[in-house]
Amino acid sequence: MSETVRIVEVGPRDGLQNEALIVPTERKLKLLARLAETGLTDIEATSFVSPKWVPQLADAEAVASQLPTRQGLRWIALVPNEKGYERARAVGIGAVAVFTAASEAFNRKNINAGIEESLERFRPVLERARADGVWVRGYISTVLGCPYQGEVPVGDVVRVARRLHEMGCDEISLGDTIGVGTPHKARAMLRAVAGEVPIERLAVHFHDTYGQALANVYACLEEGVRVVDSAVAGLGGCPYAQGASGNLATEDLLYMLRGLGRAPSVDLARLVETARWIAAALGREPASRVARAFRTSN
Ligand code: HMG
Ligand code: MG
Repeated sequence: MSETVRIVEVGPRDGLQNEALIVPTERKLKLLARLAETGLTDIEATSFVSPKWVPQLADAEAVASQLPTRQGLRWIALVPNEKGYERARAVGIGAVAVFTAASEAFNRKNINAGIEESLERFRPVLERARADGVWVRGYISTVLGCPYQGEVPVGDVVRVARRLHEMGCDEISLGDTIGVGTPHKARAMLRAVAGEVPIERLAVHFHDTYGQALANVYACLEEGVRVVDSAVAGLGGCPYAQGASGNLATEDLLYMLRGLGRAPSVDLARLVETARWIAAALGREPASRVARAFRTSN
């Protein structure tokens, strides 16, 4: 397996979906272009969910139809159902992400459906995606804890992951939605899932609520995972998971991967500039330590 880690940048979706401030379309497009210019290869651009549920991303069509194209760059959009898939396809999206959870209670709050029902909703999406040659990522939320249910048995994560794999997801991202996990727990969860789904198909997605995200990533790298989600400036959270903070910051992840000799070819200085710029537009500092370190050392 490749030693280089593939970073999936989720800030423009996972981050902006949770901001009180609605970022204007032009600024989102600027953010996406700047991220692409850093050399990132996988960027989640937006979400074709209900604008009533997530008004922050109600401009999904306008954003998706103006994305720059570049060889080797994959734009991904979230779709909760067939309607979302159709909207995404109508504006040329070629990679989609469906999303469910390991916890029944969370799934009901997040997409108004139980786990089984959500999987049934994905079935036509996956069938159409296969016929259309569209790449599909499947997210599982609450893999290390749920804001409503508390503990989430590892067996529940494994069961949902197996189903998404059998249904034809190209990649499955394991999400610690509320950022409560710690390294040994993260590793044990990943190991259990990798017993059923090839590890090459797995990604990890940590929110940094308790400052454990980077340590969790490290443990999962040791376990063999090579795809990691993160968000520029540590943007993010989840509107249906109270108290969940942003994702692991991409610049912090990249810095660690460089030290490990596993970094993809991404321009760290440009990434930090982008982190500062988008954070300033939201009226704050980037959440990352690397952005802070750059400020004092440059
Ligand atoms: P619902 O209300 O149960 O759906 O919502 P419905 O089928 O009864 O439809 C209700 C209305 O929504 C109808 O319109 C539909 O047409 C419309 P109305 O007749 O009332 O005018 N509708 C849609 N509109 C636009 N696009 C669509 C769509 N589908 C239905 N695709 C639904 C169900 C899934 C739509 C809703 O619950 C929803 O949009 N939820 C989004 C939740 C969300 O975006 N959560 C955040 C993303 S997940 C996440 O952040 C976790 C992750 O980062 C990993 C981790 O950290 O764990 C991925
Ligand atoms: Mg998330």
